[in-house]
Amino acid sequence: MANNLPLHIAIIMDGNGRWAKNRRLPRLAGHRAGAEAVKRTIEAAQQVGIKFLTLYAFSTENWSRPQDEIDGLMDLLCKTLDTYTDEAQKKNYRLLISGSREKLSTAVLQRIDRAVQNTMQNTGLTVNLALNYGARQEIVHAVNALIAAGKKEISMEDVSANLYQPQVPEPELIIRTSGEERLSNFLLWQAAYSEFYFTPVLWPDFNAQELQKALNSYAQRTRRFGGI
Ligand code: IPE
Ligand code: IPE
Ligand code: MG
Repeated sequence: MANNLPLHIAIIMDGNGRWAKNRRLPRLAGHRAGAEAVKRTIEAAQQVGIKFLTLYAFSTENWSRPQDEIDGLMDLLCKTLDTYTDEAQKKNYRLLISGSREKLSTAVLQRIDRAVQNTMQNTGLTVNLALNYGARQEIVHAVNALIAAGKKEISMEDVSANLYQPQVPEPELIIRTSGEERLSNFLLWQAAYSEFYFTPVLWPDFNAQELQKALNSYAQRTRRFGGI
C-alpha cells in the first residue's frame, strides 16, 4: 500500500469524553487515554512513512468548556510536551504548532516554544499540533497579514503563503473519530480537495490498525479535482 500513500494526514481526535463516560470515569481520564493514542498514532504514522501529521488538539471553541476541564487539558498538554520533546529527539520527529498564542498560559507557551525549537532540525515525521486553532481565524489572520504588508489585491497563493504553517502541504486525507461527521472549524482552506474518513472508533481506542484502515480506504479512491 506504499503507493497512493498520503503525504499529509490530518486528524480530528474526537470522543475522549464519551470514552470516559462509557467507563464511568471523569472526562479527564478520557483525555489522558487520548494522549496515549496520540503517542501510538505518531509512531504508526512514522512507521508507514507519512511525512506530515496534523493533530487537532484544542479548538478556539473549546474555551467554552468548563474551566476545570480546560485546566486539566492544559496541564496534560504540558506534561505530554515535556516527554514528547525527548521522544522527538530520539525518533527524529519535528514539532510545529498551528493556532493562536492568545489566551494560552505562559507555562504552555514555554513548552511549545521549547519543543518547536529543540526539534526544528529533525528530518523525520513532522507533527503539526493544532492548538487553540480555528480555521476561520487562520484565514482572517492571513488576510490581515497581507493588508499589513500593503497588499491591495490578494491571490489564492497569497492566502496559502500566510497560513499558520505555510510549509505544511494541504492534507490529502482528513480522519475524524467518534462518529461525528463535521469539520468543527478545522482546516477550511486546506481541506478544499481532501478526502474524508469517518470512523465510529473513539479517539482513545485509535491505533495503528485503525490508521491502516483509513489508509486502505484512501488508497482505493479516485481523486478527480474537478476533472473526469
Ligand atoms: C476530543 O474529545 C478532545 C478535545 C476536543 C479536546 P472530546 O472531549 O470532544 O470528547 P467527546 O466529544 O465529548 O466525546
Ligand atoms: C473538535 O472536537 C475539536 C478537537 C478535536 C480538538 P469538538 O468535540 O470540540 O467538536 P464539536 O463541538 O463536537 O463540533
Ligand atoms: Mg467532541
